[in-house]
Amino acid sequence: MPDDVETIKNEALKELESIGEVKRLDEWRVAYLGRSGRLTAVLRTLGALPLEERRALGQRANEAKTALEEALAQREGVIREQEMAQSVAAGRIDVTLPGRSAPLGRLHPSTQMVREICDAFVTMGFQVVEGPEVEWDYYNFEALNIPKDHPARDMWDTLWITPPSESERPMLLRTHTSPMQVRVMEKTRPPVRVVVPGKCYRYEATDATHESQFYQIEGLAVDENITFADLKGTLYQFAQRIFGQGRKVRFRCDYFPFVEPGVDMSIDCFFCEGSGCRICKDSGWIEIMGAGMVHPNVLRKVGYDPEVYTGFAFGMGPERIAMLKYGIDDIRLFYANDLRFLRQF
Ligand code: DAH
Repeated sequence: MPDDVETIKNEALKELESIGEVKRLDEWRVAYLGRSGRLTAVLRTLGALPLEERRALGQRANEAKTALEEALAQREGVIREQEMAQSVAAGRIDVTLPGRSAPLGRLHPSTQMVREICDAFVTMGFQVVEGPEVEWDYYNFEALNIPKDHPARDMWDTLWITPPSESERPMLLRTHTSPMQVRVMEKTRPPVRVVVPGKCYRYEATDATHESQFYQIEGLAVDENITFADLKGTLYQFAQRIFGQGRKVRFRCDYFPFVEPGVDMSIDCFFCEGSGCRICKDSGWIEIMGAGMVHPNVLRKVGYDPEVYTGFAFGMGPERIAMLKYGIDDIRLFYANDLRFLRQF
């Protein structure tokens, strides 16, 4: 004879109260409401009872069943809420834990130097323009007053894409940024004031002071009445900005086919203040760029009348300038991608 419905119900409810985990609820459900559960056993006996009894017991058993099902649903809700609260508490973010900082990138020292130099000229009214690294022989040499077979070509060891011996229109990796002088003048009328930063390439054995790829910054100013005094004044201002107020500058004759007269510019050695050291090779002076008055042949090539227009040009290597500024003794460091070096800038 199965237990009394009330007894089963009370025991079931009591047991349910003591359950604290969702997975144990199912065991409870099987024990009371499952196919061979205790309440189900009562319902199974109904068929054998006389009508009156069957009705009465059936009603009580069904009420008990509904009550247990409701209690189960409610208990499950309570337990799930508790479990959620527990897991939130356990997984809580500790806001006092010190953060792990994400590694931050930075600008390459060459890029920093290029920007610093360009900025110095931008404040003096120059525009920044860029041009192709793969260049025609025409712009790299020909239009710069360096004709084919001219001995001055030896000044630039060239990486050819199609050499002059193989092509009517030879192509190369630009050996300097000077070709942009011609490209800019071809497209604009004076006044012209531009600086051109960019990568250059040379067929060169690398050593501490030579790389086969490096940056240059070219400058060009063309207008009526531009004189050598403008060149000196502009480059003097530049030297003050990059190397410090009070820096002295020195100009000496030099030869570049696309300028006349051509000069190289030095600053007084800021390591030894001019008394002589390893950096300035005991001369007291450090050479930092080539410059000069734009050659009339170059102006003619782009259709500028050299009787009306004059100009000055200059070219420098920002890596070399960074080496001087920061005491870096090997230019190859700029392209070696050694983080120990790069992180210092
Ligand atoms: N292009 C020259 C070089 O690579 C540097 C230079 C010298 C540029 C004199 C100039 C200049 O514009 O006037 O060696």
